[in-house]
Amino acid sequence: MDIVPMRASTTPTRVPAADAGWSGRARAGLAIFAGVLLVATALSSVAQEQSNKGGTYEPQVGQAGKDVVWVPTPQSLVDKMLEIAKATPKDYLIDLGSGDGRTVITAAKKGLTAHGIEYNPQMVELAQKNAKAAGVSDKATFAKADIFESDFSKAQIITMFLLPWINEKLAPKLLELPPGTRLVSNTFQMGDWQADETATVTEDCTNYCKALLWIVPAKAGGTWQLGEAELKLEQKYQMLSGTLGPTAITDARVLGTDVSFTVGDAKYTGKIEGASMSGTIAGGRNGNWTATKK
Ligand SMILES: C[S@@+](CC[C@H](N)C(=O)[O-])C[C@H]1O[C@@H](n2cnc3c(N)ncnc32)[C@H](O)[C@@H]1O
Repeated sequence: MDIVPMRASTTPTRVPAADAGWSGRARAGLAIFAGVLLVATALSSVAQEQSNKGGTYEPQVGQAGKDVVWVPTPQSLVDKMLEIAKATPKDYLIDLGSGDGRTVITAAKKGLTAHGIEYNPQMVELAQKNAKAAGVSDKATFAKADIFESDFSKAQIITMFLLPWINEKLAPKLLELPPGTRLVSNTFQMGDWQADETATVTEDCTNYCKALLWIVPAKAGGTWQLGEAELKLEQKYQMLSGTLGPTAITDARVLGTDVSFTVGDAKYTGKIEGASMSGTIAGGRNGNWTATKK
């Protein structure tokens, strides 16, 4: 079913002010899907009423949620999201708006400890039931909570299938997470913070088949002393610009704690650790470099 996850509202065409940056295409898509959503929501409430009479809770695609309706991520994309996040059993994953628990449960099956935050208590119960049936209740946990009032600072991986305006609203908080934290979104952008990587699944997926990955960048902006020269860096998300002494740097960016920039024909790569960074130079003058924040 083609349903864009959107604000569960009786007036689904309302576009919040924070969505002003949406492209015309996204707006057109939203408007088209809004009609479908109304029908789906009406049908789903009938179906839900019927299923709930039997005592077994069966969620309906397109059913209301606090800020986003429930639309499940196709399993093939769940797998791809974990793949591009390079998920390992050492990681702690949090899914924001965890629905029926599929992302959390898939992560737990891969050995991760994973947690879902979900506003709808019936979905929380269903996800817990699904985790039990999958034999991963010890590693897959769920809480009834609002993502806007939750702490997710302990996560190494955060997954989400929300909406552009929600991603954009969460971005300042996500940018304060430890450098290297991986953020993966099903389909939707995060304002003007460009993804570091994207991947699309073509098999077993008809809608919502694109994963976007952001890696929280270390703080690199400011003035650094690099040998005899001053390295001045301006940072916007993972992108850097600036100068080393009198020379402009190019191809400069931060990926987690990895930093790289080019000065003339010398390519600097290194790691940022708080107020110092160091690495190697290839090209013009091979060797090592270190810099200290001023
Ligand atoms: C599009 S569904 C995605 C479900 C799941 N993450 C997946 O990928 O299959 C969004 C989910 O977010 C939940 N949700 C909406 N607003 C929320 C909020 N403010 N806090 C927590 N959960 C919320 C909805 O109930 C719904 O289950």
